[in-house]
Amino acid sequence: MSSTPPIIPREKLDFDLKGDIPKYWFGGDPFKTRFFDAMSTLFPEGERFFISCVRDYRDQVTDPTLLQEIKDFIRQEGQHGIVHGQYNDRLQAQGIPVDKLEGGLKFLFDKVARKYAPKAQTLAETAATEHLTAIMAHSFFVSKDMMEGADPRIRAMFAWHAMEEIEHKSVAFDVMQKVAKVGYLRRVFALLAVTLGFNLYTFFVTLYMLHLDKLSVWERTTTIAKGIWWLYKPGGLYLAAVKDYVQYFKPGFHPWMMGEMKLYQHWRQAFDTTGNPIEAGERMYAALG
Ligand SMILES: [Fe+2]
Ligand SMILES: [Fe+2]
Repeated sequence: MSSTPPIIPREKLDFDLKGDIPKYWFGGDPFKTRFFDAMSTLFPEGERFFISCVRDYRDQVTDPTLLQEIKDFIRQEGQHGIVHGQYNDRLQAQGIPVDKLEGGLKFLFDKVARKYAPKAQTLAETAATEHLTAIMAHSFFVSKDMMEGADPRIRAMFAWHAMEEIEHKSVAFDVMQKVAKVGYLRRVFALLAVTLGFNLYTFFVTLYMLHLDKLSVWERTTTIAKGIWWLYKPGGLYLAAVKDYVQYFKPGFHPWMMGEMKLYQHWRQAFDTTGNPIEAGERMYAALG
C-alpha cells in the first residue's frame, strides 16, 4: 500500500489553549461545545488504553514496517492524550470534574476491560474505535458547515487530531488481523459495543456538563433539541458518517479502502510549510467547499 500517507508524529504543538478561548467556543452554542468537550474527556484515558492494547501484541510482530507503524501510532496517540489533557484542564477550571470522569474511565479500562477481557477482545475494541475516530475525522471536516462558528484554535486542534487519526487508522486493524488473527464476529461485535459505549458516554456527559452549567430548563431543552437535530439531521454529523461506518461490516474490509480524507494533503502541506498547527487548521478549513 505505497500510496498511503506516512504516520508522522508531531510533538510539542501549541494550540494556545491557555488563551482567551470562550467557554462556549463553538459559535456560542452550549450543546455543540459540550458535545466536543465530552468527547475530549474520553481521549487521554482512551488513548492510553489503545496504546496498551496494541502493545500487548508488539512482541509477536515480525514485519519491520508494521513495527515502525506501531511505534509511530504510539507516539501520535501519546501526543493526543497530552494535548487533550491540556484542553481538559480548561474544563476542570470551569467546574467540570474531569478528574472524576477520568477516574471512572481508568477504572473501567484498567480494572475491568484489561483485567477480565481477553487481549484479542480489547484489541478488537481498539481497532473498532480507530474506525470510529477515522470516520469522525472525515465527517467533522467534510464540509465547511460542520465546524462553522468554532473557535479557530480548537477547530485546529481537532483538525490535527483528525489528520493523525487518518494517518494511523490501519495500525490497530493490521495488528488485529495479521497478528492476533481476530475473526469476523469478534471484529464486528466489538464495533457495535464501542459504538454503543461511545454514544452513551458522550451523550450523557454532554447532558451532565449542561446540567453543571446551570442552564435554565428552557435553555437546556432548546439547546438539547437543536443539538440532537444537528447530530442526526440528513447531512448532519452522524448521518454523514453512516456510509463509512457500515464498511466495517464487509468481510474483506481494510481501513485504507476508504482512502485518505478530503484535504489531508492540503493540511499537511500547510503544516509542513508554516510549522504552525493553528495556521494549518485554518488553511484547510478555508479550503473546504
Ligand atoms: Fe488519537
Ligand atoms: Fe487513533
